[in-house]
Amino acid sequence: MKYENIIVDTEEKIQIVTINRPSKLNALNQKTIEELSHAIDAAEASKDVSVVIITGKGEKAFVAGADISEFSSFSAEEGRLLSKNGHEKLFNRIDNLKTPVIAAVNGFALGGGLELAMAAHIRLFSENAKVGLPETSLGLIPGYGGTQRLAQIAGKGRAMQMILSAEMIDASTAFNFGIANAVLPLENLMEASKKQAEKIIKNSPMAVAKAIQCINANYSSEMNGLEHEVDTFGSCFDTSDFTEGVHAFLEKRNANFNNNH
Ligand code: COA
Repeated sequence: MKYENIIVDTEEKIQIVTINRPSKLNALNQKTIEELSHAIDAAEASKDVSVVIITGKGEKAFVAGADISEFSSFSAEEGRLLSKNGHEKLFNRIDNLKTPVIAAVNGFALGGGLELAMAAHIRLFSENAKVGLPETSLGLIPGYGGTQRLAQIAGKGRAMQMILSAEMIDASTAFNFGIANAVLPLENLMEASKKQAEKIIKNSPMAVAKAIQCINANYSSEMNGLEHEVDTFGSCFDTSDFTEGVHAFLEKRNANFNNNH
């Protein structure tokens, strides 16, 4: 697929996906969602990618939300499909991807922008980041997972406060709320995101993928998280990565893991 609204660079097993509509503060139109979805699928399928970093072009915005101009005259059914397709194609896909995803939040992350960051597994913020779910100010509610993931990440009380007030919070408040894993000067954000990625890349991709699945099992109505952990823990013992990881430890050397999830 030829991308128009995103830039994809892969280096040292890290795929950097930059949303590239700075004149619209990187707002997510349908084409951008399609392209992101394609890039995420390609990352998971590639043996050359162990971590994905998503960021926004420019110094002002990560993503200023879903593209309001695209849905301004939608019917109820069109609105429902917009939300459903977004969940299926992108937001749930990222959340459940075997390849870890880091959001490098480099400015405004509003509405769908914060929802995109919250679907990622780890969020690093620049000091100038401002985030919020302003949908109620537009006569809407968050439709790309925000009502669920904000409550999971920051707690129900904070989700209620942020969504009902529609107000933005700054990066240090986001850190205090547990939304940002760390806050960095903007000029250090990508370097810190790559360092975070490198710490993950040292580990077994299989174990990393299983850990994501188990952590997410707690939020699934179909799975019992602890039971899933028991079975998944057991399944690790049958893998060559387990044999390699344990032997490497006992032989006091670095492990050389498979590229397989
Ligand atoms: N959808 C579509 N276009 C958007 C957008 C969005 N979510 N967010 C910003 N843009 C566009 C603006 O329309 C403007 O385009 P134009 O130059 O063609 O008029 C451009 O991006 C720059 O935005 P602007 O509002 O002029 O920048 P600002 O610095 O004055 O304000 C924000 C920045 C983020 C506070 C403001 O753009 C904003 O409130 N955006 C909408 C946020 C939102 O409600 N998101 C949730 C959507 S469900």
